[in-house]
Amino acid sequence: MVATYARPPPVFVQGSGSWLWDIENRKYLDFTAGIAVTGLGHSDPEFADIIAQQAKTLIHASNLYYNPWTGALSKLLIEKTREAGCMHEASRVFICNSGTEANEAAIKFARKVGKAADASGDKSDIVSFNQAFHGRTMGALSATHNPKYQKPFAPMLPGFKQGTFNDVSAINGLVDEKTCGVIVEPIQGEGGIYAGSEEFMVALAKRCRQVGAVLIYDEIQSGLSRTGKLWAHGDLPQEAHPDILTTAKALGNGFPIAAVLVTEAVSDKIKLGDHGTTFGGNPLACRLAHYVVSRLSSPELQEGVQAKSKVFKDRFAKLQARFPDLITESRGRGLILGLQLTEDPAAIVKAARERGLLVITAGTNTLRFLPSLVMTEEEIEHGLDILEEAIAATRL
Ligand SMILES: Cc1ncc(COP(=O)(O)O)c(C=O)c1O
Repeated sequence: MVATYARPPPVFVQGSGSWLWDIENRKYLDFTAGIAVTGLGHSDPEFADIIAQQAKTLIHASNLYYNPWTGALSKLLIEKTREAGCMHEASRVFICNSGTEANEAAIKFARKVGKAADASGDKSDIVSFNQAFHGRTMGALSATHNPKYQKPFAPMLPGFKQGTFNDVSAINGLVDEKTCGVIVEPIQGEGGIYAGSEEFMVALAKRCRQVGAVLIYDEIQSGLSRTGKLWAHGDLPQEAHPDILTTAKALGNGFPIAAVLVTEAVSDKIKLGDHGTTFGGNPLACRLAHYVVSRLSSPELQEGVQAKSKVFKDRFAKLQARFPDLITESRGRGLILGLQLTEDPAAIVKAARERGLLVITAGTNTLRFLPSLVMTEEEIEHGLDILEEAIAATRL
């Protein structure tokens, strides 16, 4: 294995609901959901049955032909998005395999729209923001202005500009006639759980419309009911809705699949042969995602996310009161939450794991909480008991 990850010792062999078991049969409560992936929990029985059924029926036939599921999933994504009061002009979908690939498609689509508006090729700049994370392939990486990720692989692609997240006053100078696309996470995940302010998102959308730039929301981490709304931007007024939305992670509950939702105006500019993928949109992945979207778009599940969020936040306030020198702030919505610490959380993460809780970090010294959306309130309390004990143990 190429040494791209510093892994701790446990070898995970089994999962069920919000729990994982390692090879030595130790049990862990999972506050990570595979980094916002297993929204429905591990090894959901119905999901597993669908895998088996569809695997015995048809796994792959290629995008050269129709199958029943790519279209069905596309239609469901558009219907549920509109029903939820999100991206009101969502009209068509391109299916691919991973988050970074969805963002590559979004960047290419924005460039194509730019070419249609200005044949000289001058309208080709892509704007993104500090602390953003859009993926590790060259296009998405070029929009991820973090030296840690970019420097070893420089040079980046030309035409990528960085702005300051939530800086309203800088928008007009940043996004101009040369901008073909702006990509932004409504809530930055890897960056440390920072939400875009309504003022910022509205001003950004307005500016995009003024200069004819495509507004791309990267909802790869924040989407699919993680905030309690189908998409995190569901809290924003319609004028801030995007022209393109990218989703991945929870879409396949662990089976690789991603999707790019676009308006008709964007779709119009994409012609036969402009983009493609061998695996993307295969019937197995699409049937699974169809099931996942049906479950995750349920209003009852979304109400549950809000209630569970409150359990976290109430306990966060108590933790902050007990450890005021360590915890300075809690951030986030629904079940995408962060606790800002004054020091590196590594020792706490290790102490928690040794006590049977998996938790991850983000940004600078932020503890990140992305549990499954089906975790019970009792399980959350149990996990937070472990976290409190782990923090106390590192204070001795
Ligand atoms: C907001 C966001 N965009 C893009 C990506 C990249 O997704 P993937 O790892 O599936 O390529 C991630 C992954 O963490 C993400 O959080």
